Amino acid sequence: MKVSGTLRVPGDKSISHRALIFGALADGASRVTGILESADVHSTAGVLRALGVPIPPLSADFVIAGAGRALRQPSVDLDCGNSGTTTRLMAGVVAASDLVATFVGDASLSRRPMRRIARPLEAMGASIELPPHGGLPMTIRGGTLHDVEWQSEVASAQVKSAILLAALVAGVRATVTEPTRSRDHTETMLAARGAAVRIDGLTVTLEAKSRLVAADTEVPGDPSSAAFFAGLAAMADAGELRLQNVCVNETRTGFFRQIEAMGARVREENRRLLGGEWVADVVVDASELRGVAVSERDVPSMIDELPLVACLATRAQGETVITGASELRIKESDRIAAVVAGLKAVGATAQELPDGMRIQGSNRPLRGRVTTHGDHRLAMAFGVLAAVRGNEIEVDDRDCVSVSYPGFWADLSRVTSE
Ligand code: S3P
Repeated sequence: MKVSGTLRVPGDKSISHRALIFGALADGASRVTGILESADVHSTAGVLRALGVPIPPLSADFVIAGAGRALRQPSVDLDCGNSGTTTRLMAGVVAASDLVATFVGDASLSRRPMRRIARPLEAMGASIELPPHGGLPMTIRGGTLHDVEWQSEVASAQVKSAILLAALVAGVRATVTEPTRSRDHTETMLAARGAAVRIDGLTVTLEAKSRLVAADTEVPGDPSSAAFFAGLAAMADAGELRLQNVCVNETRTGFFRQIEAMGARVREENRRLLGGEWVADVVVDASELRGVAVSERDVPSMIDELPLVACLATRAQGETVITGASELRIKESDRIAAVVAGLKAVGATAQELPDGMRIQGSNRPLRGRVTTHGDHRLAMAFGVLAAVRGNEIEVDDRDCVSVSYPGFWADLSRVTSE
């Protein structure tokens, strides 16, 4: 398989959610260009509309008329679909608003842990009802909140953002400390909108009564989507791919660093600042890969890319071991169990670890059918592995890519040839 050409991957999912939420909460008009038009982002738009914010239909260029921080009591449940980011970030907003709302979602989202946000939001004064398994449906009675200092047990941008958004809407002070730094888009976008946010190592502080002015967002390309094509290029027999306008914020680019450590040739060109975020063209060549060790401190900056690392590892020389990644068990699927089962189903040698996995590389063709459990990142990771010469891999649910990258299969066939 050869790769060639230039690809502009769709807008960053994390920044797209936040552009909608900050646009809704600001006083005044915010223009958003290049938003990701995927199912997860539609979920955030839908929840904001249910709360009375007039979000227009999503398109390449549109304007949000902010509602200020006053949201309306919804008359329906807040349907978050498959989206953990929608649920957890909007939980923070709702906890600080004078309303009662119930968050619901699909079967996968309903199983995901919500106590991690319920605990800090309750510590701030919100009242939250969860089912015994700690997932959805979740009912939040919002109201007056107070200052909080929170030590998070997990490096999670969703937890950090829920607390910061609650404090912003409530006008109180919040300090959040994480064990390792998670993606920092919330902090960056708050600062760009005039909020008094301060970062000191692993601690973020938002001062009380922080203002939020309307600001435009140009959404850069999603590094987690670009990663699939970088991985594809690295495994190709020949060729080079240029991925344009990718967000290269260092809290997101662990995957690119990791494949370099595996022997891939990766270079950044045209590095520039776009609305507070660094973007660049990422160019990746076909390379020989070798196994690596991924450990806890590498994990947050490549958390969504680990299924892809596992797929690459099947084509690398030697063994790859991923540890310190137990968070993978509570993503859209149990990504440790599901990835290892998928690798075994196609004939690769892989083993589950409690907090990661072990994969043996080889040259033998991989053949079989992979069960994705409706998980978009699994479908795309195995989709990339299926494109490698000699492999015959079928993915059971191709449509689930619509969660983050609706045009994935079309882009994949456009840049590959025999
Ligand atoms: C996200 C944070 C990460 C990531 C998810 C998007 C965000 O989740 O996996 O896809 O936009 O804040 P965690 O915060 O749970 O690690």
